[in-house]
Amino acid sequence: MRIRSHHVGVVCLLANFGDAAITLDLTSTDSIKKAASTVAFDLMKYYTGNNTGDVPGNLPDPYYWWEAGAMFGTMINYWYYTGDTTYNAVTKQALLHQAGDDGDYMPLNQTKTEGNDDQGFWGMAAMTAAETKFEDPPSGQPGWLALAQGVFNTQAARWDTSTCAGGLRWQIFTFNNGYNYKNSISNGCFFNLAARLALYTGNSTYSDWAVKTFDWMYGVGLMSPEYKIFDGTQNTDNCTAKDHNTWTYNAGIFLLGSATMYNYTNGSAIWQERVTGLLNASLVFFTDGVMYEPCESSKCNIDQRSFKAYFSRWLAATAEIAPFTHDTIMEKLASSATAAVKTCTAGNTGTQCGLRWTTGANDGSLGVGEQMAVLEIVQSNLVDTAPGWVSAVKGTGTSEGDVNAGSDSSSTADDLLVTPVTMGDRVGAGFLTALVLIGVVGGSATMIIS
Ligand SMILES: *[C@@H]1O[C@H](CO)[C@@H](O)[C@H](O)[C@H]1NC(C)=O
Ligand SMILES: *[C@@H]1O[C@H](CO)[C@@H](O)[C@H](O)[C@H]1NC(C)=O
Ligand SMILES: *[C@@H]1O[C@H](CO)[C@@H](O)[C@H](O)[C@H]1NC(C)=O
Ligand SMILES: *[C@@H]1O[C@H](CO)[C@@H](O)[C@H](O)[C@H]1NC(C)=O
Ligand SMILES: *[C@@H]1O[C@H](CO)[C@@H](O)[C@H](O)[C@H]1NC(C)=O
Ligand SMILES: *[C@@H]1O[C@H](CO)[C@@H](O)[C@H](O)[C@H]1NC(C)=O
Ligand SMILES: *[C@@H]1O[C@H](CO)[C@@H](O)[C@H](O)[C@H]1NC(C)=O
Repeated sequence: MRIRSHHVGVVCLLANFGDAAITLDLTSTDSIKKAASTVAFDLMKYYTGNNTGDVPGNLPDPYYWWEAGAMFGTMINYWYYTGDTTYNAVTKQALLHQAGDDGDYMPLNQTKTEGNDDQGFWGMAAMTAAETKFEDPPSGQPGWLALAQGVFNTQAARWDTSTCAGGLRWQIFTFNNGYNYKNSISNGCFFNLAARLALYTGNSTYSDWAVKTFDWMYGVGLMSPEYKIFDGTQNTDNCTAKDHNTWTYNAGIFLLGSATMYNYTNGSAIWQERVTGLLNASLVFFTDGVMYEPCESSKCNIDQRSFKAYFSRWLAATAEIAPFTHDTIMEKLASSATAAVKTCTAGNTGTQCGLRWTTGANDGSLGVGEQMAVLEIVQSNLVDTAPGWVSAVKGTGTSEGDVNAGSDSSSTADDLLVTPVTMGDRVGAGFLTALVLIGVVGGSATMIIS
């Protein structure tokens, strides 16, 4: 123990909090909701974007912008599964504030850090809002469906056939590191969103893109014949070499996208086979029934500590829309949730959760990712009591859409994509420099504040 005798008071305090740790009875809906509420409270304590003078939708350092988008996706799900509206207002405010001038989650402030995957996480949060019938934005603001379509449209326009026969690059802007990388999570976000837009709207343009993206992933070798998903590949060798790291969220994002296509195609054999294969390949991320991220055997970075949140979220949604996977998935969600809450014994509330669920105790790793992951695994166990996703096709979904969202790119960061930055292009280059400067000033301000 690190705590010495002169800290006896602290030891007692910790012991008391230890007794107050979260109990979870999976046979009781109320118990699951109560546990989720405690974990959600500890998660939202990290959020400062609604404080006076702060920016709605941003998490403080060291969390990147994308993780805030991911977190608000979790908070929509929190409301959807538990019915607790406590965080709806801040969630809605954040999702609208970050939508950017064109309603496509391309806010100018994020130009320095925004890749296709970052934009994708916000887009999927908006999609979740449409699917769960989260309270609509006020009139005059784009609907949740339109925001998801805005992300889809900007990304479809970035499909890059100059190398590797297609795919999305990781980065959007040439000046950001990783522009030459084509990665699975960026293509996974696009695939997942396209499939869900197809199911919601019935528009086959979206399903065509989902098919095309899946085929590209397989063709280029980012998805193996055993349905393992690798991290990514550089276009500098035409995507020959691969980074073979595997992550839970890559398995999950392709699993749910495929399950959505399975549902959209009324249970086609090809998508059934893919869902079966992806689910089988997802089971490697469980040991004795408990979910873990491969990096947990060494060190996970800030981003990686949140990946189990999305894997849990997408497994639960898969269980619902591809019912043949239900029993296999629910068993894993139950055993993982039971293990996960045992880590929630730390921090100043005595209920903050840790990273490694397989250990049965808190490992001292605390943060937004850790909280979000435990919240998603706990609330996922309510999937059978949830009302189910709505859609325009079924006539139950009423979110306002705009098939052309995101295609009007005047005066936004999108300009950088269509403005050729050549030696003679002084306006383009000047705009670029100005943006980079804004980014630098923004970055310094953040550092001074924190
Ligand atoms: C911001 O939101 C949190 C979580 O919902 C809440 O506890 C807090 O009171 C809010 N702060 C302000 C200034 O509204
Ligand atoms: C961009 O940054 C400015 C300055 O911090 C802030 O006032 C504004 O709300 C931010 N916009 C978005 C969309 O985050
Ligand atoms: C690059 O890779 C793609 C996809 O694997 C392949 O179709 C194409 O022929 C390759 N191009 C070259 C020049 O090798
Ligand atoms: C699925 O079935 C519905 C109802 O029979 C039909 O309208 C729809 O076109 C089918 N979808 C596909 C992709 O075949
Ligand atoms: C299931 O996954 C395991 C582990 O990745 C793999 O060895 C096996 O081939 C897979 N089975 C099928 C039917 O895909
Ligand atoms: C599609 O999902 C719904 C639940 O939203 C489910 O009732 C239905 O059985 C699914 N369709 C197929 C073909 O599994
Ligand atoms: C389907 O989506 C595409 C792509 O956004 C759009 O161009 C087309 O108008 C849509 N079709 C219908 C019938 O809404």
